Amino acid sequence: MRTLIVGHGGRESALASSMAEHSELHAFVGHENPSIVRHAAASGGSHEVGDVCDPSAVAAFARARDVDIAMVSADEPLQAGVVDALLAQGTRAVGPTSAGAEIEWNKTFARALLADVAPEASPLLRVAHDAGELDEALAVFGSQPVAVKPPGLTGGKGVKVMGPHLSSHAEARDYALEVLARSKPGEGVHIEEKIVGAEFTIQAISDGVTVVFPPATYDYPFRFDGDEGPGTGGMGSLSMAAPTLPFMTHAHYETACSIIERVIARLAELGRHFSGVMNSGFFATADGVKVIEFNARFGDPECMNIMSLFDGSWPAVMERIVAGRLTAADVPLRREASLVLYLVSPDYALRAGRAYEFSLDRERIEAAGCHVFFSSAVQVAENTYRTVGTSRAVALVSTAATLEQARATVVECARSVTVLEWRRDVGEEGYLNGLVRLVRPHASSGAEPLLPNAG
Ligand code: GLY
Repeated sequence: MRTLIVGHGGRESALASSMAEHSELHAFVGHENPSIVRHAAASGGSHEVGDVCDPSAVAAFARARDVDIAMVSADEPLQAGVVDALLAQGTRAVGPTSAGAEIEWNKTFARALLADVAPEASPLLRVAHDAGELDEALAVFGSQPVAVKPPGLTGGKGVKVMGPHLSSHAEARDYALEVLARSKPGEGVHIEEKIVGAEFTIQAISDGVTVVFPPATYDYPFRFDGDEGPGTGGMGSLSMAAPTLPFMTHAHYETACSIIERVIARLAELGRHFSGVMNSGFFATADGVKVIEFNARFGDPECMNIMSLFDGSWPAVMERIVAGRLTAADVPLRREASLVLYLVSPDYALRAGRAYEFSLDRERIEAAGCHVFFSSAVQVAENTYRTVGTSRAVALVSTAATLEQARATVVECARSVTVLEWRRDVGEEGYLNGLVRLVRPHASSGAEPLLPNAG
């Protein structure tokens, strides 16, 4: 079977690794990601560098390589209609059409749909299109703290919340005006109640009808330890051997899964083609679950958690999805904890920056028990790589019976990589205990152990 992966992040590297093991992999990428290029070549496939958001270029590549089935799991290509172009020429594809992916690229549409299917999980929201509407919107919240969110795609970098980023409604107003000034006509800005709780995501896998639920994941969105600094695409992520995370109850997990099922069913009722993965973001709170957003694709880094636990054939899952015959048995996942750590350019999320060369001994790191999934980097010599742009350079991933073991392996391997920066508190127990206290504010002390599923 000939498969196609579109995109070049750590997420696509992890998918490419499984796809190349079970098929001839062809890759359409924005730069020569060393993991993807290596896996494609080893499988007897190929790669081409081009604009991953150009539907006709991707479709032409798929035709030229006589691809049987394609995987598109990156936000911008989905919004641009890459799946639409593949389906239109008869190439089978996993991933929603642009209309199905609107659940991600138009947060106003997403929130209207959510208000229909799960009003109890919708945070209070006002959408403002000008300064007058903005003042009316802020007045609705009184003295309550708010979050300001651009409604379109922002790569995880557009949301600002009172507390960590904004100190007052006046600052929230200034930032909302900034968002309005750069938004597309009619798009507006979202003013939302600030939710107190801990975030989690579920990477629901679906053929548009059946939905399979892997364990919940936790993503570290901020640049520096202790959640300091600007928002990023995610500096690391983890999952536990249980489906839940230390700060969650099973009721949080079950409610979140049920909301995802309702959203996918509603997209089908609306005639919007959805298949692939819905990376859904929630807050676990003392009063239940609130929805943050829906992404019409795997999360990055969270995809790497799930793919590192996956013991099956991803091309076989793709076949089942396009046939509309997905079952939970098609997605065997080891019951282990997993930890992903992104190593980034020193300039990442801070400034435009420059290219950095770094050393990384892939074979040694893999022998030590870590997967190496490159992202915004290219290879320049043996064990020497260069960052591309200012995005995340490379992810190290490990799975083990306990989170502590997985973390120890990843941290040991990260120390051997030069130049790049990484957060020291990813997977650290004190940090996770802080999340437990956010959801259960009356839980006694910092020394309180994690819930029993923390292993
Ligand atoms: N980790 C956040 C995202 O994939 O959007």
